[in-house]
Amino acid sequence: MRLGILTSGGDCPGLNAVIRGFCKYAFNNIDGVEIYGIEEGYLGLIEKRYRQIFPADVENILDLGGTILGSTRTPYKMMTLSENGERTWLQSMVENYKKLKLDGLIALGGAGTHKTASLLSVEGCNVIGLPKTIDNDIYGTDVTFGFNTAVQTAADAIKRIRTTADSHSRVFFVEVMGNKVGWLTLYAGIASGADGIFIPEISYDEARLADYLKKRKQSGCRSTIIAVAEGAISTREAAMGKKERKDYLASMGNASAAQRCATVAEYNTGIPCHATVLGHVQRGGEPCAYDKVLCTKIGAYGAQLAQSGKYGVTVAVRGLKLSYNSLTEIAGKTKYIPADSQIVSLAKSMGIFFGD
Ligand code: F6P
Repeated sequence: MRLGILTSGGDCPGLNAVIRGFCKYAFNNIDGVEIYGIEEGYLGLIEKRYRQIFPADVENILDLGGTILGSTRTPYKMMTLSENGERTWLQSMVENYKKLKLDGLIALGGAGTHKTASLLSVEGCNVIGLPKTIDNDIYGTDVTFGFNTAVQTAADAIKRIRTTADSHSRVFFVEVMGNKVGWLTLYAGIASGADGIFIPEISYDEARLADYLKKRKQSGCRSTIIAVAEGAISTREAAMGKKERKDYLASMGNASAAQRCATVAEYNTGIPCHATVLGHVQRGGEPCAYDKVLCTKIGAYGAQLAQSGKYGVTVAVRGLKLSYNSLTEIAGKTKYIPADSQIVSLAKSMGIFFGD
């Protein structure tokens, strides 16, 4: 059996742990298996860049951040575009899949990766997706690998901001990644004891924010920390049309979500407000113990699916068990924080401010 494996899209802690889990299961349980690491994500499949992976290659990579295979973003919308009648990326990938005589391809990636995996699957390639992303936005799985490590990293950073904010009686808006969903901000905010949490799923009201900050100051709170998702927007911004919003953002110097919060809140209250953007620190480094276990399980389970010829699926976590969903069913869908989220309502009932 010849299996290809690739890591695609933005990286996260735990990719190497999954590669290791996958390879170790395959080498130990599939007679004569050959594993080929496709380099730089789908780009490697487009350009036929790969190398064989041997057992020694996956020794001692459980703790290693990043990905030994490299990763790139190859946008889904580019997959079927053709200039001057040239082969599309999709056609090149299918062709190279066949040239490499692969029996299966394992794609570790997020939402975009899964869309392309679904496309490849429809084109007749045997594909299995493994749900990676710090954003935790892949539809149909309780959790994605890399998420819990990023929660820990972001929460640690927010806690550090709390001590300096307290020393100087400051207000901080701390921006957390997460693309268009608020999972990472919600969990990191709760885990760090943030006073407020702004997520894309709940627009914040600028006037309420101003009141909230003034009241906290009046009641003697030394610091206020609001965890802001990079995709968070105010109700005012949400009400704008596309062009109006573009112009507004340009007038704000295309400031990030937390920077816009700080600017508007300072203007409305006269209280000095600071913004800190955590950025890619959230994607780097060693996975936490939870992710090391999850990644090992997901990798080994992915190999088990390949061994049994179960393709066209992506691995999903359901409670404590691993299962799978059909790629075509989940591709293009996003797992948002639901409107009736229990964790949000509990957080609100404790007084955490969501800006609504
Ligand atoms: O999907 C993971 C993620 O880190 C998002 O949270 C973020 O919006 C995006 O990737 C950043 O991408 P890049 O590393 O390409 O700037």
